[in-house]
Amino acid sequence: MKKTIVANWKMCGTPESTKLWAQEFSSKSANIPTNNKIVVCPPAGLINLLKNALTENKPDLGGQDCHAQPEGAYTGETSAELLKSLGCEYVIVGHSERRTNSNETSETVRQKASRAIKSGLIPIICIGETSKQRENGKTLEIINQQIEESLPFEANSNNFILAYEPVWAIGSGKLPTMDEIKQVHSAIINNVARRIAIDVAKVCVLYGGSVKPDNAGEILSLPEVSGVLVGGASLKAEDFVKIVMSCKY
Ligand code: PGA
Repeated sequence: MKKTIVANWKMCGTPESTKLWAQEFSSKSANIPTNNKIVVCPPAGLINLLKNALTENKPDLGGQDCHAQPEGAYTGETSAELLKSLGCEYVIVGHSERRTNSNETSETVRQKASRAIKSGLIPIICIGETSKQRENGKTLEIINQQIEESLPFEANSNNFILAYEPVWAIGSGKLPTMDEIKQVHSAIINNVARRIAIDVAKVCVLYGGSVKPDNAGEILSLPEVSGVLVGGASLKAEDFVKIVMSCKY
């Protein structure tokens, strides 16, 4: 089964570090399995530089967020149209850091995902429970609510990706058990398949949160997991390539 492996650099990187990353990725990625999809999401200001610096085995590019409007007086924002014209194929929307730090609601996330689809980008829509919600046994309830409110009306079998990122697992080194990942991914897949009437096999759900070279292989081996969204460990090209290489399925 083809897997999708996404790097999210967050607000990290400089022109110098990006050139080094690209050189290292290009030189180390000669043997990466070509049947998988690899996507790198640098800060918007580095997209063009990264695109030009990559020489071999070029991954696809993505943005980390987009605005719900195509253009206008929205100082500091990035449009989906601009990302597309810079060569992006994907955009992350609704990352928990944006839901928390920028008070983004699921309705906003839905509008952003919708704009992404209209602009020809595939939105990677992030959902996930906090540790408190998990402790209170509310994980599936929260996940289902986020799907209901964040999934755009245009969603069909091939124009969006979901990423299950438990908020407590992001950047913490903590991971759900493999059984927990399977259980939540199955619930997401069944919910989405029912909601938009598509085959379960067509629902693409990535896992994100403390994915590292030493745990990626096991996570990627789960049939319910369509790929991974990698934050911290994607900043070193060597580690990211190791994660990509650990995908043998
Ligand atoms: P992490 O971040 O891999 O550093 O936990 C994942 C994410 O926020 O997408």
